[in-house]
Amino acid sequence: MFAKRKKMDSTRLPAHIGIIMDGNGRWAKKRALPRSAGHSAGSKNFKQIARYCNQIGLQYLTVYAFSTENWKRPQKEVESIMNLLRDYLKDAKNFKDENIKVRFIGDLKALPEDIQTLIQEAEDGSKDATGLRLNIALNYGGRDEIVHAVRKIAQEYKDGSLLKINEQTISDRIYTFDQPDPDLIIRPSGEYRLSNFLLWQSAYSEFWFSNVLWPDFKPSDLDRAIADYQKRDRRYGDIQ
Ligand code: FPP
Repeated sequence: MFAKRKKMDSTRLPAHIGIIMDGNGRWAKKRALPRSAGHSAGSKNFKQIARYCNQIGLQYLTVYAFSTENWKRPQKEVESIMNLLRDYLKDAKNFKDENIKVRFIGDLKALPEDIQTLIQEAEDGSKDATGLRLNIALNYGGRDEIVHAVRKIAQEYKDGSLLKINEQTISDRIYTFDQPDPDLIIRPSGEYRLSNFLLWQSAYSEFWFSNVLWPDFKPSDLDRAIADYQKRDRRYGDIQ
């Protein structure tokens, strides 16, 4: 009765996928657990999905771990997310053994100093990896990213080192300046918002939403998102 779902074609993967890892709090609430338990489950799942993306040969994955707005949350919750990051960063195996090249994007100077040091070590330690390029957005906001780019442009224009300003001028000064824009952005948990994620880069991204809460989001859900993406007709404003 139902048409069989087409499987994803691993020879035609999107180059870059962005994921808004949403629903950790609701996952915990459903189990009468503290929100920190939801983030812990979300972090575990993030590692599984990153590993899977690397296995299937995805080139770029960007995950939204902490936004510039997330500081508004109770201090205890912020601290629980920062601690998960510390644990992840301390486990250097995460990157080296898996051949994953990691980059943190966001206003990193506002993060606790020990995390900044761990980030530097993780980026340096994985710089020669040739597998998945993983961007972890941390204290990241799309508007904030554009403001930073505009400030650089204003300074360069004032110095006289920049004469012309066009779209490329901005693309060259955002955190993902040397990477392709995301082809596909996935948001689980039944929310239909971008929440300040990759605003500049998502101009022509395809979006995929699911009701599954992030800690329950499986590699098979990712396969489904990719299979649906592969059926989309991307016209970039053209007619065919
Ligand atoms: C959104 O769910 C999730 C976050 C704001 C934090 C995401 C963080 C992680 C998955 C852990 C990051 C760790 C590493 C190692 C990258 P929510 O809390 O808004 O959920 P809710 O909408 O159900 O309340």
